[in-house]
Amino acid sequence: MNTELLIDTAKKLVADNKGLLAMDESNPTCNQRFAKLNIPQTVEARRAYRELIVTTPGLGESISGVILYDETIRQSKKDGTPFLKVLADAGIIPGIKVDTGAKDLAAHPGEKITEGLDGLRDRLKEYFQMGARFAKWRAVIAIGEGIPTRSCIEANAHALARYASLCQEAGLVPVVEPEVLMDGDHTLEQCGEVTEQVLRTAFIQLNSQRVMLEGMILKPNMVLPGFTCPPHQEVEEVAIGEQQFQVRLTDRQPEEMEDVDEVANVTVKSLWRTVPAAVPGIAFLSGGQSAELASARLNTMNLRFKSRLPWALAFSFARAIQQPALEIWQGKEANVKAAQQALLHRARCNRAARRGEYTAAMERT
Ligand code: 13P
Repeated sequence: MNTELLIDTAKKLVADNKGLLAMDESNPTCNQRFAKLNIPQTVEARRAYRELIVTTPGLGESISGVILYDETIRQSKKDGTPFLKVLADAGIIPGIKVDTGAKDLAAHPGEKITEGLDGLRDRLKEYFQMGARFAKWRAVIAIGEGIPTRSCIEANAHALARYASLCQEAGLVPVVEPEVLMDGDHTLEQCGEVTEQVLRTAFIQLNSQRVMLEGMILKPNMVLPGFTCPPHQEVEEVAIGEQQFQVRLTDRQPEEMEDVDEVANVTVKSLWRTVPAAVPGIAFLSGGQSAELASARLNTMNLRFKSRLPWALAFSFARAIQQPALEIWQGKEANVKAAQQALLHRARCNRAARRGEYTAAMERT
């Protein structure tokens, strides 16, 4: 194992307040996002969109690495320049998604297991030769009636650890992504409990498979309430004479309910309890939150806790960086420049959030 290379790459991925841009949507996922905006779901449209991203001027000032997909890592600009060359010229480290997707876990309704271990050693060798220096594997954990089960958490943690160990053998830094999903009506507190269980189990397995913690990056979810968490009622106990009454104070909607401070506190608490100090960086996924909220929450975590934490708190967003740009582009050449500006803006906002310097005013400039 090339320990020095792994440690060096992992450090570079979270250095200088930069973060990762995930552009590794599988073809079906990319096509779904295109379909919503009436963009043709073709190889050429996917290539043109990825060209827009990698050629964004100034992207390397805020983005340390991009996560590519098997189709994308082999693609080129319209003029024939390989994307890998474009990224190298911009000082951006190429990474690659190597799992083959989350499939139904047998005998566990509503739960998934991520596949892709078969033949992984050979695929990693090829990606390293092509120039990739890190990889990504995403496990998904759903919260619901009776789930997640211990067996689902353990099976996914084991696969993540096997993947991570193979990556390090091949010289690639594993980005370990156990994602607790936002789908469902669970509360912030429930998400916190599940996130802690998942991370604790993941690190037991990573240690068991002899993964060098200094040469990996953790990509977790932020701790958030489910998308359909019912409006939260704050109830105050009021004593009148000998009797206790419950007074309903507010009915708040989910978006307002979990304020940015609360998310930052609970997320950092969950990580503090579970992630070893040897891990150099934690790069959050965005998971379906709005781009602005993702930046604001990352900012608050860094503002409040950065000086006291052993690891860097960074980002590895897909939707929270790309979505505004995709909506502007709409598959039209004439919109490329404006879309690139939107992409760059989000990348800069998130770099500012790493420094604790992101403000709502940045969204108006
Ligand atoms: P989102 O930021 O859109 O959640 O995507 C991150 C990612 O890489 C999913 O695997």
